[in-house]
Amino acid sequence: MKERNCLSAEEVEAQKVSVARMRDRNDRVYAETGARPQAFVLTLGCQQNEADSEKIAGLCEAMGYTITPTPDAADLIMVNTCAIREHAEQKALSLVGQYKHLKAKKPSLMIGVCGCMVVQEHRREELKHRYPYVDFVFGTSSLHRFPQLLCEKLEKGKRLFCPEESEYLVAEGLPIRRESNYRAWVSVMYGCNNFCSYCIVPYVRGRERSREMGEIVKEVAQLVREGYKDITLLGQNVNSYGKDLEGNGDFADLLYELDKLEGDFWLRFMTSHPKDASRKLIDVMASSRHIAHQFHLPMQSGSDAVLRAMNRRYDTAKYLEIVDYMREKMPDVTLTSDIIVGFPGETEEDFSDTLAMLERVKFDMLYSFIYSPRKGTPAAEMVQVEQKTKNERFDRLLALQNAIATEKNQPLVGQTLRVLCDGVSKNNAALYAGRTEGNKIAFFEGVPEDTGTFVEFVVERADAFALYGKKVSR
Ligand code: SAH
Ligand code: SF4
Ligand code: F3S
Repeated sequence: MKERNCLSAEEVEAQKVSVARMRDRNDRVYAETGARPQAFVLTLGCQQNEADSEKIAGLCEAMGYTITPTPDAADLIMVNTCAIREHAEQKALSLVGQYKHLKAKKPSLMIGVCGCMVVQEHRREELKHRYPYVDFVFGTSSLHRFPQLLCEKLEKGKRLFCPEESEYLVAEGLPIRRESNYRAWVSVMYGCNNFCSYCIVPYVRGRERSREMGEIVKEVAQLVREGYKDITLLGQNVNSYGKDLEGNGDFADLLYELDKLEGDFWLRFMTSHPKDASRKLIDVMASSRHIAHQFHLPMQSGSDAVLRAMNRRYDTAKYLEIVDYMREKMPDVTLTSDIIVGFPGETEEDFSDTLAMLERVKFDMLYSFIYSPRKGTPAAEMVQVEQKTKNERFDRLLALQNAIATEKNQPLVGQTLRVLCDGVSKNNAALYAGRTEGNKIAFFEGVPEDTGTFVEFVVERADAFALYGKKVSR
């Protein structure tokens, strides 16, 4: 393994010692009470955070905890936070606030807060002073230190606020407790170098670092052997994958290697930055066996002036060039995007340009966000758009997108599609829900055995958000 961007062998060993100590401690509890201590892991934010939480849960199990789905009877609560918008931070703080009464009832309860929000000094200070029952805090560079911090807190009693590492490294070999046994996340790289002017991620996740291709191929091959059917490769900008590793190959090369694996599975990835989405990548996708014809390509705005102010380093012409090439090579591709409404300085004309791009591109789905100023980012210092205008534009954007998505889904009526079933729908207990190759939601009447398998599905009806139909065979 390359020493350059990975944790040192000594660091990995030191963590194993803490894991073993915690395991002894929890085994003794088990011997005395007949029950294992319980850990509850709560995740806010993006898939990257979900993937990190699966490592936190994996470490909890290695330390002798069982994972519980609710905080009420937990002996350890971990809150993995997000900082992308103000709302995410407020949610994290409010949840941590709610755990105060659990700690009052059970003083031995340990509460840890980790993830993107707590990399920021002002949030650490807030937790230190206003949430005195929080036991330990560590940011995204120190996830691997979790066992050591917990162990030290339990043995010495002092609250711990772990400083961020001077360098953000790749930690291989951490145990992973996956949430699903048929869908999986695989991080291929961490961090971001792009510094889009509105975004906090580069400040809270450090610079880009890639995992070695061999490590990723090994992990994905293992997942396929275990029967995983839908595997998503994760990175803030997967198109930069490999640039920091000499002789490793780029993201298209990685996809090419993974596509060679035998098995019945879909491979996806997110997120791609339009500034370096290459034709080579699209060519590999188009001729692949396993890569889903689905592309998430955040546009953010349809105005070139706003894109410049956002420091996105592409313009609408470049964006359209990628979309057109992609549709030429994969006419069935499902295209989704992220849009920010109300970026500082966004005029009515800029916003109209965004609506015009929506009409031109016709995305299958959009994730739209109202701009939220992030402390320490350049855009937070710019002249802000009024809240009322932001809300009004947001509603107009949604209305247009709903009409487009409804229209885009109609040609699917009558088609037979493969759907990976997720079990009984969370919103309608009479139906089963699943996802198509294009990642569209499909509803149908199913049976419990469908969960985690591919079913053939005929589309009978479609609206902006989902497809409704019948299962035709198993
Ligand atoms: N790395 C990915 C996105 C990560 S964040 C990319 O570059 O596309 C996910 C989305 O959150 C972004 O695409 C953006 O649309 C949105 N976002 C980021 N910062 C934001 C902010 N300050 N306010 C509102 N939305 C934001
Ligand atoms: Fe944020 Fe831009 Fe990096 Fe995406 S590419 S994480 S939006 S800075
Ligand atoms: Fe949030 Fe961190 Fe992801 S800020 S969106 S959890 S990278």
